Amino acid sequence: MDTATPAPTANPGATPAASDAGIGTHSVNAAVAPLFQPFAFGRHTLANRLVMAPMTRSKSPGGVPTDDVVAYYRRRVQGGVGLLITEGTTINHPAANGYPQVPAFHGEAALAGWKRVVDAVHAEGGRIIPQLWHVGIARRPGVEPDPSVPGYGPSAIVTHGVEVVRAMTQADIDAVVAAFAQAAADAERLGFDGAELHGAHGYIIDDFFWEQTNQRTDAYGGSLENRTRFALEIVRAVRAAVSPDFPIVFRFSQWKGVDYNARIAQTPEELGRILKPLAEAGVDIFHVSTRRYWEPAFDGSPDTLAAWTKRLTGKPVIAVGSVGLDGAFKVGMFANRDAFEVKPTDVDQAAQALARGDFDLLGVGRVLLSDPDWAIKVRDGRVGEVVPFDRAALDRLVV
Ligand SMILES: Cc1cc2nc3c(=O)[nH]c(=O)nc-3n(C[C@H](O)[C@H](O)[C@H](O)COP(=O)(O)O)c2cc1C
Repeated sequence: MDTATPAPTANPGATPAASDAGIGTHSVNAAVAPLFQPFAFGRHTLANRLVMAPMTRSKSPGGVPTDDVVAYYRRRVQGGVGLLITEGTTINHPAANGYPQVPAFHGEAALAGWKRVVDAVHAEGGRIIPQLWHVGIARRPGVEPDPSVPGYGPSAIVTHGVEVVRAMTQADIDAVVAAFAQAAADAERLGFDGAELHGAHGYIIDDFFWEQTNQRTDAYGGSLENRTRFALEIVRAVRAAVSPDFPIVFRFSQWKGVDYNARIAQTPEELGRILKPLAEAGVDIFHVSTRRYWEPAFDGSPDTLAAWTKRLTGKPVIAVGSVGLDGAFKVGMFANRDAFEVKPTDVDQAAQALARGDFDLLGVGRVLLSDPDWAIKVRDGRVGEVVPFDRAALDRLVV
């Protein structure tokens, strides 16, 4: 089994103590038993190692989570997931949002909506953290809430003579750092169990990491250390804005929506230069976003990006990517309206990888959209009953 990791400030780690939700005490199919061990997380203990990955659902008109959004998250707790990470929810900055009907994480109405989500999840014995999001260069003029606002990023982007993304000034950087910190403080005030910072997939934090999107010549561009500075400032500000035992999860990826083969770190050594300072600045858990969690991360070693992250930082890690499904996440599925179906698989190998210590928690995305009872079916050895992921599951909110 996984051994205890050095206890960071928020004290996440293996704790074979009583769990919050009933699922942890139910008899478990032996092949997946490692996934159903409890895990210490901030002030609480997660019932198991299964984490619902953040998934944008675009069903919050005006940025306010609705009754259906409350029911959607409640249903996933009832299905036995140990920790929910909400869909990306936008911090209080004019350019944070990039898409219609994405929930905001600021303003009275939106925060009241989130409070209802938190209370519903806790009433079922679940745990939940918001994914705090600024879309960076993904925003285009014309998008809500203020259509006149362009995207903001490390470097400007001009399309057909129009500046669709503006290069951030120091004041812009400071405003975004402060907005992340405010959102994290609000998350704690609302009763969330931690907060995740979205540092992946070509959105604002990742835009600074990646040399293709960061052409700055000031202290935020050029060297890897400079490209990590913006993320570091955010983590430091967030750490200072929340209690020491409020877990900060940092999600990062090599891949981008525009390039699945993109890399922010070419070697393990470069990865360490990005992640170690973030760990020192206060990240408690790294959420390593890959499209297939088992793939080797670098030439010359079979080790995955999650395993490298754990080794380099000493922090607990969430692995994610094609867990329980026979086919990887594709950005194209959103725009392409064709029918599709992705078949369920067992997760015995993921359980073994966790038991080996490659990672501590297992992120699960699409299959939880098609089958909210997925965790219970896995626990009971009923994978054959899992509902495949298809177009209908992507479009629908509550099952
Ligand atoms: C509908 C949908 C929306 C997503 N939205 C987000 C998001 O808001 N933030 C994020 O970090 N990842 C997002 N992702 C990526 C997932 O968190 C996850 O990393 C990806 O789906 C791979 O996991 P899976 O193979 O288990 O689905 C989204 C994925 C899907 C399917």
